Amino acid sequence: MSTGRYKILVYGCQMNIADAERMEGQLQSVGYTRTEETADADVILINTCCVRESAEDKVYGKIGEIKKLKERNPHLIFGIAGCMAQKEGDNLMQRAPHIDFVLGTGKVQELTRIIAEIRAEHSPVVDTVIGNTIAENLPIARGGKFSAWVPIMYGCNNFCTFCIVPYVRGRERSRTPEDVVAEVRRAVAEGYTEVTLLGQNVNSYGKDHKAADFADLLRMVDEVEGIRRVRFMTSHPKDISDKLIDTIRNGRHLCEHIHLPVQYGSNRILKAMNRVYTVESYRERVRRVREALPEASLTTDLIVGFPGETEEDFAATLDFLREIRYDSAYTFLYSKRSGTPAATMANQVADDVKHARLNRLMEEQNAISRAINERLMGAELEIMVEGASKNDPRVWSGRTRTNKIVLFPHGAEREGDFVRVKINQPQTWLLKGEVVS
Ligand code: SAM
Ligand code: SF4
Ligand code: F3S
Repeated sequence: MSTGRYKILVYGCQMNIADAERMEGQLQSVGYTRTEETADADVILINTCCVRESAEDKVYGKIGEIKKLKERNPHLIFGIAGCMAQKEGDNLMQRAPHIDFVLGTGKVQELTRIIAEIRAEHSPVVDTVIGNTIAENLPIARGGKFSAWVPIMYGCNNFCTFCIVPYVRGRERSRTPEDVVAEVRRAVAEGYTEVTLLGQNVNSYGKDHKAADFADLLRMVDEVEGIRRVRFMTSHPKDISDKLIDTIRNGRHLCEHIHLPVQYGSNRILKAMNRVYTVESYRERVRRVREALPEASLTTDLIVGFPGETEEDFAATLDFLREIRYDSAYTFLYSKRSGTPAATMANQVADDVKHARLNRLMEEQNAISRAINERLMGAELEIMVEGASKNDPRVWSGRTRTNKIVLFPHGAEREGDFVRVKINQPQTWLLKGEVVS
């Protein structure tokens, strides 16, 4: 057993958080303990993201900072994992020789073996081969107390022309329904009442093993004894089937929130992005969702400044936003990712134009989010108490089933409780209210 301390820094999406929880689980299983202080750690690991250039810049900044720690403590082991590790491989070590190992996205299960190898031999390791198997039964050290991340599949087959993810996460591979359900059962036995099923495109679940599709899996997870809330992300608009929508409607614990990234609101750009749906087919899916689930919240991702974007394309996106009326949207500036088809497309959009369009898009969306939230004035909603609000320890923060953040003053309730809260102050990004007894 080892007696050192570790610190893991995580960037990127929920998949990276879930992977990091498996890395922590392994480190703890061989005797390492967690430290909050990077400077006190014997093992430092950065789980990285490369979806946009800004994400990579942050990691390079951190890698630079850790050089000083390495100079002070020659026994410190410093590793890079995740999507940037997969993308850059040993280039990372050439750029920063103080890195001891580079662990690809398919190699989470090798972490402790590699650290032990470095301890014994002091030679650097790079391991970035993505296989098509899934490592099961890894120990998991979960970050949340009541909400658990549960990956149901890895990789992506969609190759949207702007996106690096398929290159760094490999092809789609689904866990078996038995493995997913067993993980959910274990989480519930440990006190978790909410799970979020994760995948780059959860509606593609099971297309490889065909043992169950995503709707079947949702039904199985919904039936796990003791579960209170089941969330899932991300759904791809191309295959959000009627069966899936009906399953959510008929579910007991399946939360009425669908994150359905549209990326853009003009067919010309959607085609260039290789998103394989059209504005019309997307609109039809939303109509079907809203018909079946009138209370559901709908959120999205949008990219501005994709190569070739014209003022007309952008105006069409603003119109689409006004038409669909999302509860909220993540809006991104297009970031060129080398190796993806869009990076070499003609007519890249100038930075100042991109920024101006992003601001217009955010303004439009903020007004819509605010108007939708204002309609919740006076509503009594079921909230799961998640913890103290970041800004005020006397205030609880929780979420509605539709994934809206709600702040309310402390009463007799405790973390993890489900309470009814009456909304008295709806805002753009959150709701405020009071517990109703
Ligand atoms: N699989 C999900 C889907 O298809 O919607 C998204 C996963 S991706 C990690 C999250 C978001 O990052 C995408 O929905 C997209 O809006 C954004 N994104 C991906 N590549 C990008 C790029 N090159 N520049 C800007 N945003 C990007
Ligand atoms: Fe990227 Fe598209 Fe796959 Fe999402 S579906 S991860 S945007 S390639
Ligand atoms: Fe980033 Fe990899 Fe997620 S590139 S967004 S951490 S899948």
